[in-house]
Amino acid sequence: MSVEERTASERVLDARMRYVSRGVSTPALVVERAEGARVWDVDGREYLDFGGGIACQNLGHGPETVVRAIHEQADRFLHQCFMVGMYEPYVEVCRRLSESWPSPRDDVKSLLVNSGAEAIENAVKIARAATGRSAVVVFDRAFHGRTNLTMAMTSKLVYKQGFGPLAADVHRAPAPYPYRGVSTEDALHGLELLFKQDVAPASVACVVLEPVQGEGGFIPMPIEFVQALRRICDEHGIVFVADEVQSGCGRTGTMWAIERLGVEPDLIVSGKTLGGGLPLAGVSGRAELMDAPHPGGLGGTFGGNPLSCAAACAVLDALADPGFRARADHVEALLRARLETIAAASPLVGELRGLGTMLALELRDPSPDAAKAVTAAALAKGLILLSCGLYGNVLRLLPPLTATDEELARGLDLLEEALGDASTGAA
Ligand SMILES: Cc1ncc(COP(=O)(O)O)c(C=O)c1O
Repeated sequence: MSVEERTASERVLDARMRYVSRGVSTPALVVERAEGARVWDVDGREYLDFGGGIACQNLGHGPETVVRAIHEQADRFLHQCFMVGMYEPYVEVCRRLSESWPSPRDDVKSLLVNSGAEAIENAVKIARAATGRSAVVVFDRAFHGRTNLTMAMTSKLVYKQGFGPLAADVHRAPAPYPYRGVSTEDALHGLELLFKQDVAPASVACVVLEPVQGEGGFIPMPIEFVQALRRICDEHGIVFVADEVQSGCGRTGTMWAIERLGVEPDLIVSGKTLGGGLPLAGVSGRAELMDAPHPGGLGGTFGGNPLSCAAACAVLDALADPGFRARADHVEALLRARLETIAAASPLVGELRGLGTMLALELRDPSPDAAKAVTAAALAKGLILLSCGLYGNVLRLLPPLTATDEELARGLDLLEEALGDASTGAA
């Protein structure tokens, strides 16, 4: 086929194969523009977006106030480096993050960086500086990033195989997974064993937990488990870090998922939707922890970039609006009701679960094959749908909470059709 006969998508895909590392896995979707819950590819095809660039678009693509804030900041200046010339948007994001802390406090401070993984690395640095200890406890199916420390904390082979040696003093405990038979008691027993066999609790700087596991399969941590973990951390002087990179910024209805579990963490790590589509992540916590590192110990050239901070101020304003919570509750009810019907009717689906609008369908078969067939069928029908899970068999829904009811209903229609095609082998 001549170059001219190839579609625009195919031409980009060819160039991608030639110029981009194969280590980055990519779908067959080449985006030209996006707005709200919709994405258009370079050949003019329209898609409903239930992926949100992996949880970055809780407010949809290009929210007006966010785009306006970015334009205004772009006209002022693009970059300073906060360590060279301070600027108000950075401080304003930290002020808003302090106001969003799960309980009323007047001593919450933040650090801003570029990515979720970098924020997790910094949370560990802060916990180590505050406790004088080095060990880190993480959980089965955790995802915390792809940098050297965070790939040791992350629990799927694909993210770390062949990239060692991994960072030392990272210890993994079981996490509850009721659908596959791991109860809260089992998980707590596993932690007890870890503390007897591998690492003394007095050596542990921090425990890092996703209140709703994201890449690991959209598994909400049971309230009894999170509360027990809080008690264990208090007993041993361990810093409790809530990784809210995926579950935070309104995805579960409240600003942070952990608010729904009745626990106040010591540090909250945020990212993804925080920047409204621009790279931004943060670590927040009480001043006594956040001020533990010496001056110069934290920071980076681009961390808290002015454009990202301007965007984040608009994002945090939108999330703080009471109308947002009302909309999130409405979207949760709409999605749940329809997903219950879809789950009951599909022989492929084993469980519907989630917290707020962070909802997923786990397929019975613990292999990625059926989920891959469903996501491929969905894309062919015009729905961007992502899978996740240690076995790759979980379909996760991350539509913007600003999507209209009609868009949500249409996306669910397409999901149902895709499941139908996959179960009859038509996909
Ligand atoms: C819970 C969680 N933590 C950390 C990260 C890493 O974030 P980033 O990809 O921005 O480094 C992710 C990314 O998916 C995540 O879901």
